[in-house]
Amino acid sequence: MKSGASAESTSAVALAPEYVRGIAPYVPGKPIEELAREYGLAEDSIIKLASNENPRGPSPKVRQAIAATAADITRYPDGNGFALKEALAARYRVRHEEIVLGNGSNDVLELATQALLRPGDHAVYAQHAFAVYPLATQARGAAGIVVPAKHFGHDLPAMASAITPRTRIVFVANPNNPTGTWIPSSEVKAFLTRVPREVVVVLDEAYDDYLERAQRSPSASWIAEHPNLIVSRTFSKAFGLAGLRVGFGMMDARLADLLNRVRQPFNVNSVAQAAALAGLADTEYVAESAALNRAGLSMLTRALEAMRVGFVPSHGNFLLIHVGAAAAIYEKLLRQGVIVRLVANYGLPEHLRVTVGLPEENARFLEALKSALGR
Ligand SMILES: Cc1ncc(COP(=O)(O)O)c(C=O)c1O
Repeated sequence: MKSGASAESTSAVALAPEYVRGIAPYVPGKPIEELAREYGLAEDSIIKLASNENPRGPSPKVRQAIAATAADITRYPDGNGFALKEALAARYRVRHEEIVLGNGSNDVLELATQALLRPGDHAVYAQHAFAVYPLATQARGAAGIVVPAKHFGHDLPAMASAITPRTRIVFVANPNNPTGTWIPSSEVKAFLTRVPREVVVVLDEAYDDYLERAQRSPSASWIAEHPNLIVSRTFSKAFGLAGLRVGFGMMDARLADLLNRVRQPFNVNSVAQAAALAGLADTEYVAESAALNRAGLSMLTRALEAMRVGFVPSHGNFLLIHVGAAAAIYEKLLRQGVIVRLVANYGLPEHLRVTVGLPEENARFLEALKSALGR
C-alpha cells in the first residue's frame, strides 16, 4: 500500500545514523540554467565564476582524446587505471602501487575517511578549510576538531597540538579553498615531523598546479619518509576536467592498498582516464592556464585595491573578497547575471569567493561588483 510504503521509508530515514541525518548538505555554485529560469535572464548573458574551474576548459588534445574514447564505452574501464597510473608514476616519481585514482580528488578524501575513521574518532582540520573535510568526517560518525585559522590560513603548529590519541586524520589544504592561503613546503615538512606515524595527514593539493614553479609542492617525494602521508591532486582545476571527475592520491603502498579496498572497482570512467592521460602530457596547456590565472588574479586585485575592497591574497584560481553584507551583494550580482559563491557556510558571512575567469569575465565581474557596492 502506498501510505504503508511511505511510513516505512520515513522510519528507515529515522533509523539512519544520527550523524548522517545531521549532515548539512554541500551547497554547490548556482547553475547557470537555474539563474536564467529564476531571473528571466538569457543563459548566454550569464557568467559563472563560482566553482573554481578552468575558464578555458580542457586542451584541444584532451578534447580529441575524449571524443576518441567516447566512441567506445561498451566495456568497463580499466579498474586499475594502468596507463594513467604509469604516466602519474613517471611524472611524480612514485611507484604504481603508491597511487589511488579517484572520481575527482573528492573521492580520495572520502576513501581516506572510509578506510580510517570509526565513529568517535577525531579528524583535525582548520577553520575555513575546504567543506568536504567536515562532511566526510561526519559521514563516518567521527568528530571534527576545528583549529582556529591564523590570518585566514592554517595554523600548523596549533593543528599539530590538537592531535590526541583519538585523532586518526589531519586534513591540510594547500592552497586552501575558499581562502586561497598557502603554506611554504618547509613549514608543511616541519609539521609532518610533528605528527605521530599512526595519524594520517591528508595533504590536499588541488590547486598546486596554479602555483609559481618555485612554490610547487615536492610532497610526492616525502611519501617514502612519511608512510602516513596522503597527497591528493586533481584534474578538475588547471587541467579543466571538473565535469569528468578524476583525481588521485599518492601514498605509501600499504596505505594505498587499504584505500583501494573501500574504493568502487570502476570509480574512474574510461573517458576520464583517457582525458587525464592526454592532459598530463600537455604540460604547455596547463602552464598557459596557470599564467592566465596569475594575470587574472593581478587584474582583479589591482581593481579591488582601486575600489578599496579588501581581499585575501590568493594562491589559487579564486579570490576571497570582503564585501560586508555578502548575501545582499551576492543577490545584486545575480541580478546582473554574475554568479559567484557565498561562503557563510565557511564562517565567512562578510565575504564572497570569485573564481578567476577569462579577462572579459573578470572585467564584467568588476563592473557588476562596482554597481552592487554603489561605487
Ligand atoms: C581544496 C579542494 N580540494 C579538493 C577539491 C575537490 O575537487 P575534485 O573532486 O573536483 O577533484 C576541491 C574542489 O573545489 C577543493 O577546492
